[in-house]
Amino acid sequence: MIPLSLADIAAVVDGQQSDIPDPDALVTGPVVIDSREVAHGSLFAAFAGERADGHDFARSAVEAGAVAVLATRPVGVPAVVVDDVTRALGALARHTVERLGTQVVALTGSAGKTSTKDLIAQLLERLGPTVWTPGSLNNEIGLPLTALRAEEGTRHLVLEMGARGVGHIRYLTQLTPPRIGVVLNVGTAHIGEFGGREQIALAKGELVEALPPAAPGGDGAAGGDGGGVAVLNADDPFVRAMSERTRARVLLFGEAQNAHVRAENVRLTDSGQPSFTLQTPTGCGDVTMRLYGEHHVSNALAAAAVAHELGMPAGDIATALSAAGSLSRWRMEVTERADGVTVVNDAYNANPESTRAALRALAAMGRGRRTWAVLGEMAELGDESLAEHDAVGRLAVRLNVSKLVAVGGQEAVWLDMGAKNEGSWGEESVHVSDAEAAVELLRSELRPGDVVLVKASRSVGLERVADALTEPGTNEGEVAARWV
Ligand SMILES: Nc1ncnc2c1ncn2[C@@H]1O[C@H](COP(=O)(O)OP(=O)(O)O)[C@@H](O)[C@H]1O
Ligand SMILES: [Mg+2]
Repeated sequence: MIPLSLADIAAVVDGQQSDIPDPDALVTGPVVIDSREVAHGSLFAAFAGERADGHDFARSAVEAGAVAVLATRPVGVPAVVVDDVTRALGALARHTVERLGTQVVALTGSAGKTSTKDLIAQLLERLGPTVWTPGSLNNEIGLPLTALRAEEGTRHLVLEMGARGVGHIRYLTQLTPPRIGVVLNVGTAHIGEFGGREQIALAKGELVEALPPAAPGGDGAAGGDGGGVAVLNADDPFVRAMSERTRARVLLFGEAQNAHVRAENVRLTDSGQPSFTLQTPTGCGDVTMRLYGEHHVSNALAAAAVAHELGMPAGDIATALSAAGSLSRWRMEVTERADGVTVVNDAYNANPESTRAALRALAAMGRGRRTWAVLGEMAELGDESLAEHDAVGRLAVRLNVSKLVAVGGQEAVWLDMGAKNEGSWGEESVHVSDAEAAVELLRSELRPGDVVLVKASRSVGLERVADALTEPGTNEGEVAARWV
């Protein structure tokens, strides 16, 4: 982070200095919430979690090199004591962003935030030093922690913003006010929790409400006129309608004819990778992505729109999109096994839109091969749950997937029934009770050349299946990634 003295920090967060011998001592290192990640010069933010209380690790954090602790009570080592550590992190983030004057690009949507954020980061890095959200750390803790990674010279800050309800995104935009705001889609992720698609649109649209006005006389020319820019998905009616909720200039992306940044001649290669011609207001270029699944076309266009806005020529954007890889795990992560089995691990999360996209990618990748869809519950769909699971089961049949393995409880039964009711499927669709049973089945039935897609909501933990079929993976830190 930018160097700040403990006195400065106490002033910014409106906190009390406690056990601080030298108020001029400088925090220079990363701000962390896990004492094991403390580096020399760190600030350790203590949170009380369900199992452990960070305050108990204050001393070891300081011994490991932390300059001080951000805490809610004195801890016997140098600390800045506040009422609310989350709010204090937010205040520090805001201070940092204001001091640095970094371009903040924020994005939200129901599905594809992390994938798109990783694409934007890989494009903007080519323009200058860029800091972005690691993994999915998109909530009221993860977002400020990311912003605090910015340093003198950081030109772009690319931030994923998640929400579990109305008001959450507004809060995040107050911490790191964006100049460019991207809304990807309004889907059904967590629709039960939000209480309907209109509510999701209301929540996600808070991002564009927070943008500054368009620059006076701004003509929409690329290069950044300093005013606010709302980058909106022209193909999603809920997102498009957000044009009415912003004072910023609107830049539309999508396959719609009147989008400013468009994809033409979209197709999936035989390996399931999208290929298209990118059209921007200033030129065009051919893209063949390294990522899998047609849903990445929309994500790529959103990223292209941001890069265009920041002055990148279309040809360069196309080159960068074609080179961009996957930075976050378990999102259509493809592993080729030595025996010729291909495992597609998309177990990070699932909702109806992303499951359909993944199934279509599986179908493209599996041309001439045996394909397996190992699917589990898509969580939090409320009243739509039965219909959505049934529809996905049916789609698997229509796409000619060779085998469906539905894993888990009632929702998996609906998947299985949908498949069985759709066609002549009998043996092709099976229901198993848990991940272990799925692994057992696959181990005995997989043959060289098969392609296996593994996908379900996070809570189902189907990465265990993908891991068992490939190699043990690692868990991503989840504490700061609780929102969608
Ligand atoms: N534009 C999109 N539309 C639908 N599904 C998508 C899209 N982009 C990614 N996905 C899928 O959604 C899931 C979550 O992707 P991710 O990029 O982590 O999104 P988020 O951060 O919004 O949760 C993955 O399974 C991915 O394959
Ligand atoms: Mg995410």
